[in-house]
Amino acid sequence: MLNIVLFGPPGAGKGTQSTRLLEKYGLVHLSTGDILRAEMNAGTALGLQAKALIEKGELVPDEVVIGMIDNKISSSANKNGFIFDGFPRTTPQAKALDVVLTNKGTGISCMLSLEVPEEELITRLLGRGAVSGRADDQDQNTIINRIKVYNEQTLPLKDYYKAQGKYVAIEGVGTVDSIFESLCEAIDGVSA
Ligand code: AP5
Ligand code: MG
Repeated sequence: MLNIVLFGPPGAGKGTQSTRLLEKYGLVHLSTGDILRAEMNAGTALGLQAKALIEKGELVPDEVVIGMIDNKISSSANKNGFIFDGFPRTTPQAKALDVVLTNKGTGISCMLSLEVPEEELITRLLGRGAVSGRADDQDQNTIINRIKVYNEQTLPLKDYYKAQGKYVAIEGVGTVDSIFESLCEAIDGVSA
């Protein structure tokens, strides 16, 4: 199986590139952000709990997102693999993911990290906020907090995957096509 952690700060292009990668490699897209937004739109108890945190740019508790991912992986019949987008975001999440995949007889193939400077992230997210309706894109302070939370709680995962020899940095500024090409090169290198 090809199991990719597509990593990067808010606005790095994880969702944009996931759509293309899953088509090319026949993977299942697991975006915890998308799953949480679907719960919010459906007005479930989980959605309500998540909404308050997402609107402040804070993370949803580990046990909530780990449970969601565990369900999705266990119920998937796809044999090619998964793209994890926006997950894991903390060390406990990364450890839990390793356990779930090991139990399935597989593991993470690589962590592709989209590197984008902060000013570019803010420009992209404010730009999307004008059209997306995403509450966490509307306000510059929320966007800045999302980046701060990423730097404090999520960035340490680079070292987690570096220690396993799975971290690959990808230049995340440029055209969507050129970044897609760099991602494919990295994936083909890993799976060759
Ligand atoms: P999540 O939905 O994961 O959002 P995020 O990480 O903040 O990232 P985005 O989806 O905003 O950005 P992206 O990297 O996907 O970029 P995109 O392709 O959209 O999480 C939202 C919230 O849910 C979190 O804050 C947290 O509260 C909660 N949550 C989610 N997962 C969690 C977890 N595991 N644990 C705990 N809490 C969790 O692109 C962004 C914009 O840039 C778009 O407009 C796009 O068109 C544009 N763009 C893309 N590529 C380029 C390019 N090359 N050049 C110019 N513009 C570009
Ligand atoms: Mg996204």
